[in-house]
Amino acid sequence: MSKGFLIKGEAISKTFKLKRGWQTFFIKALNKVSFLLPEERILGIAGESGSGKSTLAKILVGLIKPSEGNLIYQGNLLEKGKIQLIFQNPYTSLNPKMRIGRALKEVLYYQGLSSQKGELERIFSLVELPFSLIDRLPSQLSGGQCQRVAIARALASCPSVLILDEPTSNLDVVVSKKIIDNLLKIKQTLKMNYIFISHDLGLLSYITEDLLVIYKGKVVEEGSTPDVLKKPLHPYSQLLVSSAKRDFSLGLEEEDFSDEGCIFKNRCIFKMNICQNQPPLFLKEDRKVACWLYQN
Ligand SMILES: Nc1ncnc2c1ncn2[C@@H]1O[C@H](COP(=O)(O)OP(=O)(O)OP(=O)(O)O)[C@@H](O)[C@H]1O
Ligand code: SF4
Ligand SMILES: [Mg+2]
Repeated sequence: MSKGFLIKGEAISKTFKLKRGWQTFFIKALNKVSFLLPEERILGIAGESGSGKSTLAKILVGLIKPSEGNLIYQGNLLEKGKIQLIFQNPYTSLNPKMRIGRALKEVLYYQGLSSQKGELERIFSLVELPFSLIDRLPSQLSGGQCQRVAIARALASCPSVLILDEPTSNLDVVVSKKIIDNLLKIKQTLKMNYIFISHDLGLLSYITEDLLVIYKGKVVEEGSTPDVLKKPLHPYSQLLVSSAKRDFSLGLEEEDFSDEGCIFKNRCIFKMNICQNQPPLFLKEDRKVACWLYQN
């Protein structure tokens, strides 16, 4: 892990209230998640569907408020536009009736920046998009081109941090690889910081340097990406790594989120009596792991 940090999350929790008929359910999407976004590194967030990854991303950009916990932002991150979120589906972040050139000009205008042709050309070239597409509507672009426009729009605010929430999971492998390589180049050129969210461990291994593994809204392991993926310590991380090629999802029920005991105890083959108590994040080999197997 690096020395400094840009964003620090302290025990962030988020509970959603859902009504089904007469009944009210509480979904604990995040449960006391603490983390650091290290300076000049790419932080990955891994976890299966429903683990709370997007909820964390939305909290970081202020789209939703945490139920509990503190967020500490360093430097100018609280200024408008300094943290940008790229969604899985770019069409949701673009106005279908607005030509992409105008969509970009609009962001530049609100940031008080020049929206001259030269500036637009610079942004198009950053995201490797032909300038000839400037008068197209989002529906007249391919999925990959549309995601590049969404990235261009985010970059137009000169952000310091880009949160990428499964940015290429709707795209084919070739287009996805090109966009990922483009993102890595942009990071170098603009000296940006990324949080990269995915359930694709191969992608996380390619792009990220540090990794947070989340299970049911709780951090179960964190460390450098190569360490965690080569030698996962937490039984859930081990399961994720061994199931990397299998797509599975998890149904979330209210009782799954009882604060009693280890969050993974119902699926863990190593379960012991002590697992009825919630494990803290133990420090083990330069890593943190929430499992009683690593109690000193
Ligand atoms: N607005 C909401 N209202 C109610 N429940 C929500 C809301 N947003 C998320 N949830 C629930 O919170 C949990 C975490 O959802 P989240 O979208 O953060 O998961 P995720 O890790 O991003 O999953 P995926 O990989 O499928 O995108 C899920 O159980 C989800 O149903
Ligand atoms: S604390 Fe116990 S139940 Fe939880 S992952 Fe570790 S061994 Fe398994
Ligand atoms: Mg998500």
